[in-house]
Amino acid sequence: MSHSVDRYAVMGFPIEHSRSPEIHLNFAAQMQQALEYTRIEVQPEDFSTALNAFQDSGGKGLNITVPLKELAWRACLQRDEFAERAKAVNTIRFNADGTREGFNTDGIGLVRDLTKHQIELPDKRILILGAGGAVRGILAPLLQQSPAELVIANRTLSKAQQLVSEFEDLGFLHAVELNNVGKYAYDIIINATSSGLYNECPNIAADAINSHTVIYDMVYGKETAFIQWAKTQGATQTFDGMGMLIEQAAEAFRIWRGVLPNTQNI
Ligand code: ATR
Repeated sequence: MSHSVDRYAVMGFPIEHSRSPEIHLNFAAQMQQALEYTRIEVQPEDFSTALNAFQDSGGKGLNITVPLKELAWRACLQRDEFAERAKAVNTIRFNADGTREGFNTDGIGLVRDLTKHQIELPDKRILILGAGGAVRGILAPLLQQSPAELVIANRTLSKAQQLVSEFEDLGFLHAVELNNVGKYAYDIIINATSSGLYNECPNIAADAINSHTVIYDMVYGKETAFIQWAKTQGATQTFDGMGMLIEQAAEAFRIWRGVLPNTQNI
């Protein structure tokens, strides 16, 4: 099958609410490039078939979202450093020679969004809430920024400890239970738990926050219970995950198309 415009898509389940098509089509318009970008709903058991079908039909690249990122990692024999560390792939590039390359742009997206808001990470004390796939995807790019320390707090301590053992060669990292984050305020707190999706708030001590603490919730599209609570504790700088979504998309666009779109006016 031949197509006149380069074709891209996002695969996941569920996928109907994905904002990726409008973001990428916005980038394409800005760069005056013609491309197609669609949503494809794929269950984990169908991923391998769907991936092959998309590649065989001449597709140029995919974004991969929940719950397929680990499967995508396994499906790509060539992977970049961040994907390798995350054991998860959110961007695939299909090369002319038939190879698939896997990338993970989530952590780059988070770091760029923070930087865009003039939030510098070197020498900062950072607290991350959660220890699931979302955290695995951001640790290497965060540690590359040389924070003074990075604490991973999770309800289930063993999962945080596991991440520490995998990433501690990259920087000063340690694990605590969610109810044991310490008595001193952090510079930056990143909520990477899925609590916001269920209107729940991770239960951390109010001492972790003061008026200078930057609060970042990776959930987007609503003010989460965590952001609301942080505000009542005096936080004045709060962000949701929309900026990260846009920045990770921009990096995927660069990987596919060779140019980094401007994200200022999205
Ligand atoms: P994801 O890929 O989004 O990270 P996940 O791997 O299912 O999803 O991980 C969800 C994370 O959110 C976990 O760290 C989970 O804590 P546990 O490991 O203790 O289960 C965390 N989480 C979810 N709801 C939470 C809540 N209400 N309070 C605190 N942590 C919560």
